[in-house]
Amino acid sequence: MKNISAVILAAGEGTRMNSNLPKILHKMGSKPMLGHVIDNVQDAGIENIFIITGYKSELVEKYVGQKAKCVQQKNLLGTGDAVWQINDEEIFKNKDQRLLIIYGDTPLITCTTIKNLLEKHCENNAAGTLLTVRTNNPVGYGRIVRNAVGNLAKIVEENDATVYERAIEEINVGVYVFKANELFDALKKVKPDNKKKEYYLTDVVAVMNNAKLMINAVETLDQDEILGVNSRESLAQAYEIFRNRILKKTVASGVTVLDLKTTFIDEAVQIGKDTVIYPFTIIESNVVVGENCSLGPFCRVRSGSNIANNVNLGNFVEFNRSSIGEFSKVKHQSYIGDTDIEDNVNIGAGTIVANYDGKNKNKTIIKSGAFIGTGTILVAPVKIGKYAMTGAGTVVTRNKDVPDNTVVIGIPARELKKTNKLIANG
Ligand code: UD1
Ligand code: CA
Repeated sequence: MKNISAVILAAGEGTRMNSNLPKILHKMGSKPMLGHVIDNVQDAGIENIFIITGYKSELVEKYVGQKAKCVQQKNLLGTGDAVWQINDEEIFKNKDQRLLIIYGDTPLITCTTIKNLLEKHCENNAAGTLLTVRTNNPVGYGRIVRNAVGNLAKIVEENDATVYERAIEEINVGVYVFKANELFDALKKVKPDNKKKEYYLTDVVAVMNNAKLMINAVETLDQDEILGVNSRESLAQAYEIFRNRILKKTVASGVTVLDLKTTFIDEAVQIGKDTVIYPFTIIESNVVVGENCSLGPFCRVRSGSNIANNVNLGNFVEFNRSSIGEFSKVKHQSYIGDTDIEDNVNIGAGTIVANYDGKNKNKTIIKSGAFIGTGTILVAPVKIGKYAMTGAGTVVTRNKDVPDNTVVIGIPARELKKTNKLIANG
């Protein structure tokens, strides 16, 4: 979207997290809260993004990399002061633009909500538009004070609120769109006359109202989106909401999840129809699972894995950066790492791939139709040929590839016989 830039506030320490890491770098699922906010803003179509950094800015800058421009706030004087940092010709030239402001600690606000807010803002040609929600638990949020005719009058922070204002159930979500020029004019007039002695961004509402500029509140109905993460407890609550969103989409697309409470599926996971997921299963990000598969119970599929249709990964199986072809099975207590398993392969109970030699992660290839006996150890790099078999307890040592149609046994593995028969996939 042209003519609109975004500022994400991420300078705060987040003292209530009680952590050495800046709050917004704490992960919700596989990526930091800040990553979620950046992605949501980008998905709403905004390309030009500023991140206000402060506490341990070098860590935040390292994470942000090329995704956005970082601007340092030297002294953390409040959210108004944070936005003020981009009021510099060198940083943000074209002030005729509109500016979206969002906080780095609200990772659940979706790109749809951001888009709606932008639309409403442009429709009304307002100087500013912000998002509110009604909640029966407004504790900790800024309260929305409306005037006698119901228009937005001001925002009051909890610390500064009267008993009556604290009873208000409409709160400030912390997402705003402003005409940039008008915003910076208003920010000039904001004073730190509150309990925390900070320059509050929220005070621009009263300033703009005094200047007779149009400032609107748009109410959203989704209470789940607004959660601002201020403590580890609220981070866990945010993750729970995030996890449930993914589970909801997953089951709606035709996947059976037997126990929603103990199933953890990250974002960027694709699962085919009629796959069944048993309890205590974890699927990390960037995984593809085909149709008609069976996963778990107690199965962990790690990032970068690819599972074809009709595959069975059973109890206590860890499947890491690996792929597996159709009708193959790893049913009991195995570690499979950096391994490509083709179709119709049976991996016996307790098979372990020793993929790490202390320095490198090495690859293993298991060709189609192979039958790996119970308790086999495959020391990578190694290749198991088509329709090859290993006996129970075999250790196949590194680079000692097993040729096609060959049965090996023992430690280290030695050839027992050739087999021309096609081994049934049992
Ligand atoms: C803020 C809002 C509140 C709203 C709530 C929604 C203000 C004054 N209050 O309160 O109305 O209901 O969010 O979650 O804006 N930050 C900086 N520099 C600073 C101070 C803060 O970058 O000098 C960043 C923080 O890192 C954080 C964000 O701004 O990501 C919000 O600050 P926080 O202290 O969490 O504000 P709240 O008290 O939650
Ligand atoms: Ca907050």
